[in-house]
Amino acid sequence: MLKNEMKITPWEVSGNIDYNRLIKEFGVSKIDSKLLNRIKKYSKELHFMLRRKVFFAHRDLKWLLDEYEKGNKFFLYTGRAPSGPVHLGHLMPWVFTKWLQDKFNVELLFQFPDEEKFLFKQNLKFEETQKYLNENMLDVIAIGFDPKKTKFIIDTKNAGLMYKEACKVAKKITFSMVKSSFGFNEQTNIGSIFYTSMQAVPAFLPSVLKNKKIPCLIPHAVDQDPHFRLTRDILPKLGYPKPASIQCLFLPPLTGTKGKMSSSDISTAIYTTDSPNEVERKIKKYAFSGGQETLELHRKKGGNPDVDVSFQYLRFFFEPDDKKLQKIYDDYKSGKMLTSELKEILIEKINSFLKEHQKKRQLAKKKIHKFLLK
Ligand code: TRP
Repeated sequence: MLKNEMKITPWEVSGNIDYNRLIKEFGVSKIDSKLLNRIKKYSKELHFMLRRKVFFAHRDLKWLLDEYEKGNKFFLYTGRAPSGPVHLGHLMPWVFTKWLQDKFNVELLFQFPDEEKFLFKQNLKFEETQKYLNENMLDVIAIGFDPKKTKFIIDTKNAGLMYKEACKVAKKITFSMVKSSFGFNEQTNIGSIFYTSMQAVPAFLPSVLKNKKIPCLIPHAVDQDPHFRLTRDILPKLGYPKPASIQCLFLPPLTGTKGKMSSSDISTAIYTTDSPNEVERKIKKYAFSGGQETLELHRKKGGNPDVDVSFQYLRFFFEPDDKKLQKIYDDYKSGKMLTSELKEILIEKINSFLKEHQKKRQLAKKKIHKFLLK
């Protein structure tokens, strides 16, 4: 593989990500203004992640809205494989999912496939995934999901409910199908080969339990698409509708606008449990800057917000106000705003967000039981 070549699988994201090429290769559709207007009909206003094309692609969203219009409500499905602490990149699609839940008043099934990373990561033990499962649940609850409309489905705990359905999916998937979808080979362990059928289950489990065809919408980062492409092929064969999806970009790592924020490199990620000092230190030390070498040059030539990670974090997540964001963009580009000033704005935004999040995360410890699927 060439250096910097785009690589995107559910287990690895690296290189320069060309989203237009990705749309073509994955066969997803762009979210256009017509579709945005249809969403707006129900949500009244558009979430900034939609306005800014952070959620940029979909499958079958038109169909989903047609069904909604006919009174056939969908449910939301998303998830998190516990393998480490939660960082800001994970939170992004969850914040958006919560918005969808509120605007459309729908139920959410949140999967914790606590076997996934055990199977895929050489050195990860079950004890560790269980520790992260408990930690990660706190972060999801802290987002503010309504416990009356949200259920957690944990693969090893809810296996009794899931296994039979997973087998129905697995029976329709051959080794050669997963080989080409995920790049598996003869050395891949058989747990990994089976895994995608577990991730398919929540997309139709409510239809099984209620014995009717309930539409499903999956908000997810674009790297999960290979799983759901397979799911979409299989479900009609089992008599269930194909799940629709709405897909987002990756929050870039601190170190630059390539790839995604990742837990495996401590310097690229801001965790939900980071202290204000830690956030400040990481942003000041690592956040890739689009500024000029010297103050003089910066004043003269201006910075480049398009490659500046601090600006990108404001755009993706921390400055919902379009006018304020535009002003920061203009001021930075003209050289009026310095990198240090831009970083100050971001540090303050992240820290006030995390202060609230950490409070809710603490309170979440007493709420876990309300979310568990019985
Ligand atoms: N595979 C995802 C991960 O690595 C977890 C996951 C399970 C998921 N079901 C999902 C993500 C549905 C998005 C949507 O974290």
